[in-house]
Amino acid sequence: MKGLAFAFVLSAAVYLTIGMLWGITMGIQEDFTMAPAHAHLNLVGGVLMALFGLYYHAVPAAAATGLAKLHFGLATLGAWVFPTGIAIAQRGPHGVAIIGSFLVLAAMLAFLVMVLRDRA
Ligand code: HEM
Repeated sequence: MKGLAFAFVLSAAVYLTIGMLWGITMGIQEDFTMAPAHAHLNLVGGVLMALFGLYYHAVPAAAATGLAKLHFGLATLGAWVFPTGIAIAQRGPHGVAIIGSFLVLAAMLAFLVMVLRDRA
């Protein structure tokens, strides 16, 4: 695996490692306040990035497009900003979480266009 597919799968492995360590830390401290942020880092940063990486591995032509690079940029921003925003929102303002949610949505829309474009 190489290129964009590798970048997606490597990102997923890094975010899942961080997310799991975060989960273990929550368990040790017996403080589960950050469970929603942990969950979204694992799901948006881990599961979704891995799924995207496997798609680009299966469809190399799609990985070569500018839209795929935009998709990676949006997905990476979303994977950082959304869980961070959810963590802030546990005790503070919701603005960062809202921005993060729209970044994640924008990444998914880029992927939707990619999949539809790739149909032929
Ligand atoms: C070493 C691996 C992991 C550990 C130690 C861990 C630990 C935890 C802990 C302690 C909680 C809070 C439970 C509670 O509130 O009673 C939690 C919640 C959760 N975790 Fe993990 N987790 C791990 C991996 C994952 C992965 C890989 C995913 C998803 C792909 C995930 C998704 C979730 C979800 C959805 C919740 C519920 C969040 C909520 O209630 O708001 N976790 N986890």
